[in-house]
Amino acid sequence: MFDQPDFSWGVSSSSYQIEGGWDADGKGPSIWDNFTHVPGNVNNNDTGDIACDSYNKVEADIYMLKALGVKNYRFSVSWPRIFPTGRNNSINSYGVAYYNRLIDGLIANNISPIVTLYHWDLPQTLQDIGGWETEEIIDLFDSFADFCFQTFGDRVKFWITFNEPNILAWLGYGEGLFPPNVKEPGDAPYKVAHIFLKAHAKVYHTYDDKYRATQGGIIAPCLFTTWAEPKTPSDPRDIEAADRYLQFLVGWFAHPIYKNGDYPDVMKWKVGNRSELQNLPSSRLPVLTAEEREYIRGTADVFCFNTYSSKIISHSTTRLSPSSYDYDREISITVDSSWPTSALPDHRPVAWGLRRLLNWIKEEYGNPPIYIIENGVGAKSKSDIDDNARIFYVKTYIDEALKAYKVDGVNLKGYNAWSLMDNFEWVDGYEPRFGLHQIDFDNPNRPRTPKRSAVYYAEIIRNNGIPLTQHLGQICPHSLENWQRCNWRCSL
Ligand code: NOJ
Repeated sequence: MFDQPDFSWGVSSSSYQIEGGWDADGKGPSIWDNFTHVPGNVNNNDTGDIACDSYNKVEADIYMLKALGVKNYRFSVSWPRIFPTGRNNSINSYGVAYYNRLIDGLIANNISPIVTLYHWDLPQTLQDIGGWETEEIIDLFDSFADFCFQTFGDRVKFWITFNEPNILAWLGYGEGLFPPNVKEPGDAPYKVAHIFLKAHAKVYHTYDDKYRATQGGIIAPCLFTTWAEPKTPSDPRDIEAADRYLQFLVGWFAHPIYKNGDYPDVMKWKVGNRSELQNLPSSRLPVLTAEEREYIRGTADVFCFNTYSSKIISHSTTRLSPSSYDYDREISITVDSSWPTSALPDHRPVAWGLRRLLNWIKEEYGNPPIYIIENGVGAKSKSDIDDNARIFYVKTYIDEALKAYKVDGVNLKGYNAWSLMDNFEWVDGYEPRFGLHQIDFDNPNRPRTPKRSAVYYAEIIRNNGIPLTQHLGQICPHSLENWQRCNWRCSL
């Protein structure tokens, strides 16, 4: 059990994935609205037009959160719902009222909001002027964030600037799978990440300079992470390769923010050398000036991350052409075929990886306060009320988090499950189900039904950890194998 009574149990969601109301009450279109409206872009041509209809279901959402007994709810504000043109001369009062209703409802029920300012739904109008590829966006994002601090900051005490900027830089600008579908794997991810970093730092300073003293909240980015296990742990080249994977993925943002304001040495070295071999006049990894380094260093109060799986990494001599962030890492990635599968090929459950990842973060960044902001598993079946695989996932991942906390001394402050309810899983549409609650997407009312995992997670929250007393009790001396009987026969 976590011995901190204020351990922050929660669930997570994001605006485009749940809200619907894509053009309701003056909301402007986002890049995801336009992308999903083009047939062929998303599995089954699904869109977020209605999604879980959360825009019209504040009470139903709060009801679920209350039933779970969560301490926090992490959601995101949709920039084009608040500023339809992306700029603060177009404030949509209906959008503001929606978030006020939600935040007030949470506070009334003792649930702390954790609010993400950017979970990928950029106003289309800003994409039209170059989006995250132009420096102009830094001030525009800052002005949106400033408005949110000013409007909601009396009640919101935990802000996330960017959700998974590291994965977005690759999927949106390298692989081009997500809008804006830029396929420039050698340059664009580095350029965009550079702008994300500066935008993040600017927003952090705005909070620091204008709001922290009166509002007293915390602010951080939320990075995507995956544990990297060296393929041959006795081979130093594989150990280095695994660390390199983490530096290119996590360190890309975390090294500048949590360490010295600059990119990890291994990134500067690899991308620099390879750019030279590619006969380029300078490194494809942009340079952070001394002034920028000073501005970026230290711009996070806590360490937030999302995680779903692990990978096995070995050293590899990769091709030089075409240039790509992917090849720059000089690694090869595999998985263990004995790891269970899930709805997404990249998301095999590997609970022990979480403990190692937490320890890596602790060592690498000097034992920061850590929040796991997203963790969960998707299932492909439409009706997974009896979601035993999810119960197993949640239980084993939380168990590893507990070991990291209790045995290894990791400063873990919170755990959020992804997700409160089934929702729009980006290019995979509604097929992968990640919810603790089921949504019937065929029913216009979008009824919400708790799955067994919701009941189990509520029990974990009540016990502030895995319910050990019952597990060691008379009725069921437990092992993981017979957890099901325990949860359903004796703990409830
Ligand atoms: C991370 C993203 O933040 C979230 O939007 C997504 O649905 C989950 N991972 C599951 O893939």
